Amino acid sequence: MPESHDGATLVIGVRAPITISSPRGGCDNEETMDAIRVRGGKALKGRVRISGAKNAALPILCATLLSDGESRLRNVPALRDIDTTAALLRFLGRNVRVNAPEVVVDAGKDVRPEAPYELVKLMRASVLVLGPLLARFGRAKVSLPGGCAIGARPIDQHLKGLEAMGAKISLERGYVIAEGPNGGGRLRAAEIVFDLPTVTGTENLMMAAALAKGRTSLFNCAREPEVEELGRVLNKMGAEVDGAGTDVMHIKGKEPGDLLPFDHAIIPDRIEAGTYMIAAAMMEGSDVLVEGAEVQDLEALVLKMRMAGVEVGTKGQSIRIRRNGPLKAVNVTTAPHPGFPTDMQAQFLVLMSRAKGESMITETIFENRFMHVPELHRMGANITLRGRTAAVEGVERLYGASVMATDLRASASLIIAGLAADDETEVRRVYHLDRGYEHIEEKLGGLGATIERVKGAEG
Ligand code: EPZ
Repeated sequence: MPESHDGATLVIGVRAPITISSPRGGCDNEETMDAIRVRGGKALKGRVRISGAKNAALPILCATLLSDGESRLRNVPALRDIDTTAALLRFLGRNVRVNAPEVVVDAGKDVRPEAPYELVKLMRASVLVLGPLLARFGRAKVSLPGGCAIGARPIDQHLKGLEAMGAKISLERGYVIAEGPNGGGRLRAAEIVFDLPTVTGTENLMMAAALAKGRTSLFNCAREPEVEELGRVLNKMGAEVDGAGTDVMHIKGKEPGDLLPFDHAIIPDRIEAGTYMIAAAMMEGSDVLVEGAEVQDLEALVLKMRMAGVEVGTKGQSIRIRRNGPLKAVNVTTAPHPGFPTDMQAQFLVLMSRAKGESMITETIFENRFMHVPELHRMGANITLRGRTAAVEGVERLYGASVMATDLRASASLIIAGLAADDETEVRRVYHLDRGYEHIEEKLGGLGATIERVKGAEG
């Protein structure tokens, strides 16, 4: 029997077919086996405009579960992960219209607080519905995300925080079963210290605390710009989030039903911007203007690129990249923001594969984020892995080859390597890329790169 929860009807356990529309048209339940071919050796020139931030859009779309009415998100990139999130929200009972760069989410009548494995397996960030569902509807059933190419990626910090807010959490058959206090009641405010800064962990608890009874304090929070952006949207909805973007946050919860829908244009994607900055720096003679980027969100990268001998000019929301000399080897250690972003590690490593001398690239966030290295070996790169450090000895030339993408940022790094390699590089399994880069071949083509997508190359 469906239960009611402040006006929305809860539907438990009913299964419905899941359809995900693809940013490239048609349905896309299965990963497309497209490849991208790049012919290297050309300096890049011109302007490239940066799209909205994937890692800001995902939590903000999940935050629409906290209110009724119609919420509108602007500057949303056309990406697979956006379509997967839309499919998830529809499965939960929302009406969602995706018309990039705009997404409109309207509260349907029936809410089914369940995120099925079929969707969560496509995108780990689906776990971001857990906090809002539990806070708004008193219960949630969310598939455990499981492992990922770059690491184990547990969600213990998410669950520990929700339990501190009074939730009863159990794991059954691969699902997190969560219930509010006293059989589905409202969460209670709490003081929560994260054992380590976690981006989606912080975001999940921010959304849960926005409807909890009392004032929640979060310590050792992630400080990423995407976390700060979620704080801005929650405040627009009427929540009281103080300190988003710092390591300590205080959130005064509102009554379920009191948070308002929003209309918001999201921040630009700093990782997409960083990717084009590196792509431009791969070839001498390049001169590229990266437009619509938040420079202050890229300080660590700008610093390291300047140390490597790349000319990086910043003006307003634009970053100019010029390269007129050899690259110098620079060491990098990834860290939570404002440190060097792990999502730029693979791309920077490729830049160092052409530098004079040896650079040490140390990955401290994920335990298995060097899957691009064996593929770069196929292109003639000289890289030795020692635990969580890659010792990169710069080489004169990279050679075109067929290589395999393994995860989102690794695939971007292989495309970038192809831009500097002799002859042709074919990057396979680019469905990883489509999860996080909007129209990459058109954008690079616009800068003069010789690049094309080969549909169903591995049919
Ligand atoms: C976010 O993932 C991003 N994803 C990732 O971007 C990014 O690499 C990562 O933050 C780090 O910056 C989204 O925002 C959707 P974490 P998230 O929780 O939140 C450990 C991309 O390429 N940990 O900050 O999943 C975890 O294993 C993607 O766009 C726990 O141990 O990352 C990792 O070692 C890839 N327990 C570290 O913390 C927990 O409960 C940081 O992970 C949570 C995390």
